[in-house]
Amino acid sequence: MKKIRLIVCGCRGRMGKRVVALARRDPRFILEGQIDRHNQTRLPETLLHSSCVIDFTTPEASLRHALAAAGSRVAIVIGTTGLTPSSMKALAGLRRKIPVFYSPNMSWGMNLLFEAAGRFQAQMAVYQKKIVETHHRGKKDAPSGTALRLARLLGGPVSIASRRVGRVIGEHKLILNGRDEHIEWTHKALSRDAFARGALEAAAWLVQRKPGFYGFPDLLK
Ligand SMILES: NC(=O)c1ccc[n+]([C@@H]2O[C@H](COP(=O)([O-])OP(=O)(O)OC[C@H]3O[C@@H](n4cnc5c(N)ncnc54)[C@H](OP(=O)(O)O)[C@@H]3O)[C@@H](O)[C@H]2O)c1
Repeated sequence: MKKIRLIVCGCRGRMGKRVVALARRDPRFILEGQIDRHNQTRLPETLLHSSCVIDFTTPEASLRHALAAAGSRVAIVIGTTGLTPSSMKALAGLRRKIPVFYSPNMSWGMNLLFEAAGRFQAQMAVYQKKIVETHHRGKKDAPSGTALRLARLLGGPVSIASRRVGRVIGEHKLILNGRDEHIEWTHKALSRDAFARGALEAAAWLVQRKPGFYGFPDLLK
């Protein structure tokens, strides 16, 4: 199988470091470029030799990187959260040029929870719904992109509480309060590798797709 020539944007960040480390050990990938704030001007040149970008940076940088990838007809996987609705629209607009994969949470387990929330939305309507999300102090956006996605899939009124504590990698608790029962579903990321592995799986899947705007529901089909 042809190797995937990968660029990691945000390579010195918490997530980027793990994507780089796992990609180095994965025979499907050749690490073609590592881009961070200090060498971002090298991206257009590096794109000429690449087949896919994985980006965990900031909302503004991710959109710029996606536009550059589209200019070179290179697929891009974006895990950055906190994108504004207009940035998401601009990103989705690239679907005609390149394969774009976006997910606010790249872990397999959280995506199973998204699936369940979407599938049982009608049955969950009888409960009062609350999401409690906890992340490390360095996280810039609140509520988390994951909590917003989960709330959208659940539909109806959903209250969200965000906590920023110490070094917590990522914890989402979905609480359903009924008249006679109380349900709690918790997803805890034990390591950032849960997200990095998902991003690499998404990249391996994405390079075989036609231009379009994709997410985990497409990959899990
Ligand atoms: N989808 C998921 O599964 C998932 C999982 C975890 C995190 N995230 C999201 O991913 C994003 C990154 O998280 P993180 O914890 O890795 O943050 P982080 O540690 O702050 O890393 C972000 C990296 O991006 C770099 N960067 C900023 N602007 C850049 C630019 N213009 N060009 C190139 N690189 C640039 C930063 O460099 P400087 O340090 O020099 O600014 C930093 O190294 C956040 O939005 C977070 O919420 C998503």
